Amino acid sequence: MPESPIRKLVPYADAAQKKGRKIYYLNIGQPDIKTPEIALQAIKDANIEVLSYSHSAGFESYRNGLARYYQKINPAINGSNVLVTTGGSEALLFAMGSIADAGDEIIIPEPFYANYNGFAISSGIKVVPVISSIENNFALPPISEFEKLITPKTKGILICNPGNPTGYMYSKEEIEQLAAIVKKHDLFLIADEVYREFAYDGLTHTSVLSIPGIEENSIVIDSVSKRYSMCGARIGCIVSQNKEIMATALKFAQARLSPPTYEQIAAEAALNTPQSYFDEVIGEYKERRDLLISELQKIPNVKVAIPGGAFYCIAELPVKDADVFAQWLLENFELNNETVMVAPAAGFYSTPGKGKNQVRIAYVLKKEDLKQAVTILKAALEVYSD
Ligand SMILES: Cc1ncc(COP(=O)(O)O)c(C=O)c1O
Repeated sequence: MPESPIRKLVPYADAAQKKGRKIYYLNIGQPDIKTPEIALQAIKDANIEVLSYSHSAGFESYRNGLARYYQKINPAINGSNVLVTTGGSEALLFAMGSIADAGDEIIIPEPFYANYNGFAISSGIKVVPVISSIENNFALPPISEFEKLITPKTKGILICNPGNPTGYMYSKEEIEQLAAIVKKHDLFLIADEVYREFAYDGLTHTSVLSIPGIEENSIVIDSVSKRYSMCGARIGCIVSQNKEIMATALKFAQARLSPPTYEQIAAEAALNTPQSYFDEVIGEYKERRDLLISELQKIPNVKVAIPGGAFYCIAELPVKDADVFAQWLLENFELNNETVMVAPAAGFYSTPGKGKNQVRIAYVLKKEDLKQAVTILKAALEVYSD
């Protein structure tokens, strides 16, 4: 199993903190945004005498509620197309296990969410990367590049839209191109859409659920973690109109018995979060993105791709090895007793040697903190030599 590049430096951060150092955590997608009150209140109001297992597929009322949410994308979705999971993480594991056997392959545009590597490895699946680059903002590689990689063992294509760690938002045309290729080669298209709402600059998100003709191919991964800033709830879901996939995913779900009860209560209540909450949160993230990008662009020799969605960006730094630099930041650098933690980007690639001078930065902190964090990063780069 690979280590998580997002969490592997935690012992160094803990040690720095014990020394009394303040750390700005830019490494992890843990938003400081408040969870909707309606969700927290639902837990307080729940009158439970026996904290029992729930249905393996999740509460029926919650699945139906989720179906109503997805009906805005595709009116044909119903509760039987939804299976509640313990976070988007488990949804990814179930989806991979449901489409592929050990030894099979899944094509993923890289850089990609690092834990795809871990989930694929634990399912015996080979990740076949198709490279997207910072030079063209991590746009979808040409379809011909995907076709070159398809073998008899290829079971699907996995995308993250909008992307973690790139923030890239796929256009409708790009999604349609992917739809055509999965149809032509009879593959699955898994779309991790956990950041669906977080779209900036007037960009609109295209869900694979909205594309006609790939109902049997498409599988959506979703989560309440980021949408409602409920990372600790550990609630997500799989959505697919393919009955066989849902029946297979249910077997995985039965093996782990059921998703958590209180958290389903909160997640179900969160479905009634008013639009004003999202308008405010999205406005806040956009301001943070603008600030982060403009501050990073002021640092000499730093290259950054502009994210159109989610809340991450990849920055290329004037260092040889971002792993060593990120550890040095925690162990050996401070500006007025403060430092920053970033996620080295090599772990978001599966091609050895790729992303070595890149880091992923999450803009999940408030603007003053983000600005201070970039000031520290700039000061660190001025004195660092490798
Ligand atoms: C792209 C992506 N997918 C899935 C997940 C998993 O989220 P969770 O298991 O908290 O729902 C994350 C978490 O950061 C993510 O960034």
